[in-house]
Amino acid sequence: MTTTTPDPADRVLARASLARNDPTGWFDQLYTAAERGEAEVPWTRGKPNADLAAWVRPGAGRRALVVGSALGDDSELLSAHGWTVTGFDVAPTAVAAARARFPESTVDYVVADLLNPPGEWHHAFDLVVEIMNIQAMPRDFRPAALTSLASFLAPGGTAIVSEVAEENMDMANWQSPPWPFSRPEVESVAQDGVRLVSLQTIRAGARYWATFTR
Ligand SMILES: C[S@@+](CC[C@H](N)C(=O)[O-])C[C@H]1O[C@@H](n2cnc3c(N)ncnc32)[C@H](O)[C@@H]1O
Repeated sequence: MTTTTPDPADRVLARASLARNDPTGWFDQLYTAAERGEAEVPWTRGKPNADLAAWVRPGAGRRALVVGSALGDDSELLSAHGWTVTGFDVAPTAVAAARARFPESTVDYVVADLLNPPGEWHHAFDLVVEIMNIQAMPRDFRPAALTSLASFLAPGGTAIVSEVAEENMDMANWQSPPWPFSRPEVESVAQDGVRLVSLQTIRAGARYWATFTR
C-alpha cells in the first residue's frame, strides 16, 4: 500500500488563495491557523535573519522600513541598532503578534500592502529591507512590487534585497511558492533613480543579497 504525506497547511492555503487570484490572502489565514496550533509558519525562526544580523549598521535615528515584517524579529534587530523602524505586513494577525511579542518596542508595526502602499512612504526611508517577501507572490505581481520597493528609498539611503536565486535551483522540480528570482529581476530594483551598489550570492549560491542606493 502506498501512503502519501498530506501537504502542509501553508501549501494548501496558498493553493486556494492563488486559485481565487488573491496573491496574499493566505498569509493571514496561515498566521491565524498557527495561533490556533493548526499550522506551522515555515519562515518563523524566533530570531533575526542571520544575513541581516551580519550586515547591520548603526542607525543613529535614521528611518528604516522592513517589508513583510512577520513576527518582528528583523524590525527589532534594526531598532536595537538605533534605527527608527516601521515594519509592515499584509497579514493583520502577524502585525498584532509582533506587537504582542514586543510590548515595549518602539517599532511602528503597521498593516499595509506592498502592492498598494501609503503615499507618505515615497522616498521616506534611509534603509529599506526586503527579505523573501516579493518572491512569495506570483511573478505577475513582481513588477508592481519592485516599483513600490524602489519608491520607498530616500536619497542617499540603502535598500537591501534578498531572494532565493533561481540560477542555482532545480527549477524543473520546483514547487512554488516561493517563486525564485533571476539576476536581472533583482537588478530591476534599480529604477526611478535607484542604482545597484552590489549583488552577490550567499548561502552557497541559494540566495541573492543585493544593495541599492538613490
Ligand atoms: C515568506 S514570509 C517572509 C517573512 C520575513 N521577511 C522573513 O524573511 O522571514 C513573507 C511575509 O511577507 C508578508 N507579505 C506577503 N505579501 C505581502 C504584501 N503584498 N505586502 C506586505 N506584506 C506581504 C507575509 O504576510 C509574510 O509575513
